[in-house]
Amino acid sequence: MTATAHGTGARGVDSPGRAAISARTLRSDRWWLPPAATTVGLLIFVVYATVRAFQQQYFFADERYLTPFYSPCVSLGCASEPGASHFGMFLPDHPLIPYAALSLPFLLLFRLTCYYYRKAYYRSFALSPAACAVPEPHGTYTGETRFPLVLQNAHRYFFYLAVVISLINTYDAVVAFRHPTDGFVVGVGNLVLLVNVALLWCYTASCHSCRHVMGGRLTHFSKHPVRYRLWTWVSALNARHATFAWITLATLILTDLYVALVASGTITDLRLVG
Ligand code: FES
Repeated sequence: MTATAHGTGARGVDSPGRAAISARTLRSDRWWLPPAATTVGLLIFVVYATVRAFQQQYFFADERYLTPFYSPCVSLGCASEPGASHFGMFLPDHPLIPYAALSLPFLLLFRLTCYYYRKAYYRSFALSPAACAVPEPHGTYTGETRFPLVLQNAHRYFFYLAVVISLINTYDAVVAFRHPTDGFVVGVGNLVLLVNVALLWCYTASCHSCRHVMGGRLTHFSKHPVRYRLWTWVSALNARHATFAWITLATLILTDLYVALVASGTITDLRLVG
């Protein structure tokens, strides 16, 4: 067996019986653009989120805005910002332990195992395949049937945890309307938190696992009208899941950035009410 131009041996596009084409691909459009853009977008988010998660500073602003990257704030270090912690402080205050170490790993796993992100990073990072009609560099294909990719099946369980974390983010957005001394207030930060949490719900509710929870394994929709109605709503959201996946990465960064800028005194939160 000799290696071929694609480095795939006599398999895949080089299998016996397939047309002998030496060019890597016959596509003449800029097929590399989507995977390249995906790589850049995901790397920006990962670098930003990592830096912020370990910064342990500027996570609570105006005594009421908690950034989603620090929610729930359960480290003993959260005591530096009175009012930031609503669910107890029990994790050790250590530079290598994020203040939201209880939620961040599950949020990461929820996104990492997401059907859309899987497609995105398989194509952009593993080039498997990079695009339609572009041969992948791998000689064998086992899909997600073996370790470690078989663990992607745990996505359905991370979905339930993501729902809990979205509820906590919703709680953060609601309690942010109450200032410890001024009472009920509305600032631009409230709108930022609200928009962020609304879009997080769109992303979470549009999950394929959520769609299955709503209408999966039913033989007759007519016998389950409520589940059928919920399934149609989730299906409508599900068609935009990839869009929500990207929008929420952007809104998470923008929300965190807003809280960090207010907390550091770089900008002032504009009060609209109160
Ligand atoms: Fe994307 Fe579940 S499929 S979050």
